[in-house]
Amino acid sequence: MIEKETISVIKKFTSALLENSLNQAEIEKSLNEIHAHFQRITDITGFDSKIEHLAAVPTAKGKALGLNHAAQCLLDHKRTVKFLQAIVAAIKAKQKEQPGEVINLFYAGCGPYAPFITLVAPLFHCEEVQFSLLEINKKSLDSSKRLINSLGLNDYIQEFYLEDAVIFDVQNADSFHILISETLDALLYRECYVPILFNLLPQFNENITLIPENVLINLSLATQTKSNQDSTEYNVGSILNVRESVASYAGVRQTPSNLTDEKIDLSTLEIKNYETILLDTQVHIYDDIWLNRNESQLTQPLGIKLEHPLQYNTIIFTYYLEPEIELKCTFQQ
Ligand SMILES: C[S@@+](CC[C@H](N)C(=O)[O-])C[C@H]1O[C@@H](n2cnc3c(N)ncnc32)[C@H](O)[C@@H]1O
Repeated sequence: MIEKETISVIKKFTSALLENSLNQAEIEKSLNEIHAHFQRITDITGFDSKIEHLAAVPTAKGKALGLNHAAQCLLDHKRTVKFLQAIVAAIKAKQKEQPGEVINLFYAGCGPYAPFITLVAPLFHCEEVQFSLLEINKKSLDSSKRLINSLGLNDYIQEFYLEDAVIFDVQNADSFHILISETLDALLYRECYVPILFNLLPQFNENITLIPENVLINLSLATQTKSNQDSTEYNVGSILNVRESVASYAGVRQTPSNLTDEKIDLSTLEIKNYETILLDTQVHIYDDIWLNRNESQLTQPLGIKLEHPLQYNTIIFTYYLEPEIELKCTFQQ
């Protein structure tokens, strides 16, 4: 039986969201209510202790978040809201560019609730938007199928793929207008956003809209530790700009084992005035929609305390894709 009540809760929420008529407390209340419906329909709470729901899934490069964590992403409220606003805006922009054309979305990493279809599709007609979903975790994919079926959204689906987006070959790649892959963690640690871009972006046509559009890791210096209100900050700049970095390898067939180093010369920075280095993950979702510091789990800053007098003048940041996905820094005299 189709879950008409849940669909009406979803439509009411997303319509109000797009009219900007909800405050933060109302947004959280509505998303929690939607989560309760999704839990009931899928039997996935996001909070149980079954080992297969906790474990991360290995991919060709990096790790896919465990099922519980993937489910909990829905409740990362500001993140979910900004992604929803971005996806709806991107669909509308494509409809304006290509009136009358069906807008095809490729959704890599849908998780157990596939929120970027289950909360988006009800706003459109299935003759306007079509989704292909890909997920590496079988339980997540099965759960998203069950939810989509219960919500009566099957007509919006072209394909479900149980595959690894890091190595997947997309069929009819030219037909897609929008690629969604929220496969991120703070500091791009372990998860697959970067190798997924290396694999998928060259397969689509150059007008594809990617959501999130880009991720930056920014370096700043703080006079005191981050908990202190009186701390002042100096913004040094980005030490990683994913899209620029990926574009610089255009034409290279193999994904590199690490991205180009970024060297920061501390001797020019009055470093003695600062106590802490801050690394921020900033997610450029779409157009003017950004996820900034502390708005989400993805944008929690990392503070590194400086021990004065410093024994080094240069910090080198390197983002590795092998053997593990992680940002590392080394220090040089
Ligand atoms: C951060 S969760 C997001 C889930 C959902 N899209 C959301 O926004 O709530 C990322 C999802 O991507 C999946 N994933 C990560 N890496 C993947 C890969 N290489 N191939 C396919 N799926 C992947 C994970 O299993 C997880 O379900």
